[in-house]
Amino acid sequence: MTATMHALQESAHGRDHDYVTGSPHLQHARLNGWMRDTLNGVVAALADRSAARPRVLEVGAGHGPFTETLLAAGAEVVVTEMSAPSAEHLRARFRHNPLVQVVHDCDGDLSGPPDVDLVVFMSVLHHIPDYLAALRAAADRVRPGGALISFQDPLQYSTQSRRSRALAKAATLAWRVGQGDVTRGVRTQIRRLRGVYDTANPSDMSEYHCVRDGVDSAAVAALLAERFGTVSLHPYWSTQATWAQSLGARLAPANTFGVVALDRRSSTLG
Ligand SMILES: C[S@@+](CC[C@H](N)C(=O)[O-])C[C@H]1O[C@@H](n2cnc3c(N)ncnc32)[C@H](O)[C@@H]1O
Repeated sequence: MTATMHALQESAHGRDHDYVTGSPHLQHARLNGWMRDTLNGVVAALADRSAARPRVLEVGAGHGPFTETLLAAGAEVVVTEMSAPSAEHLRARFRHNPLVQVVHDCDGDLSGPPDVDLVVFMSVLHHIPDYLAALRAAADRVRPGGALISFQDPLQYSTQSRRSRALAKAATLAWRVGQGDVTRGVRTQIRRLRGVYDTANPSDMSEYHCVRDGVDSAAVAALLAERFGTVSLHPYWSTQATWAQSLGARLAPANTFGVVALDRRSSTLG
């Protein structure tokens, strides 16, 4: 599974991949600003507690838009990427910055430092088949008092309102028409309705839980609550379609979530 996943992520995130198109959290200024402010606030609070720079592990950094934010907030950052071309891009982008270490994580096993003050997943959990195991492993790396932040994963579809699902589907379809890419979406939808997936097809595998049932925010929060003093879930609306972003934020309940876990306990259930 891991070797295949690596090839699939690489095929979905190749050399010329455009991370912005199709990523609501990068496209929409308000969402993007909110996430950057959150990262800033948490890094600043961690920096206040210690003379050393907060050490951050950013999993699946893509081309590094949030790495910049973490650095500007005063952190040193280890970024991981499963896609070799994206890891190369990160290496080139940050080659003059000794505060950034890039790890090409083929196996997706969170290669990197064993102890950090903050772990960040930006639009990554839904790419990982066993995202709860990944969160467990990530939380194990966080020093006492540290934090974990994740944003931009689809809420489990069964928990979303009909209105939210209907608007999200209409907006995505309209967006795909605009991109000239309807066939891929329709084919994936058909496989989804049939519950049959092609394990060799990046459309079915790279955004793993987007084409299945979404991400279980309650399970994520429960896992983190066993390990962190404070866990806050942040449900919100997001869509790739620019016209539907502000409309949905007013009319449709949340379809996406983030989670902020603070104050890592020194023992898991302590
Ligand atoms: C939607 S992109 C998000 C990129 C970036 N975080 C952003 O917000 O722009 C997801 C990225 O996660 C990477 N990825 C998926 N699973 C991973 C894993 N287990 N470890 C490291 N990277 C992973 C993919 O290669 C892809 O670049």
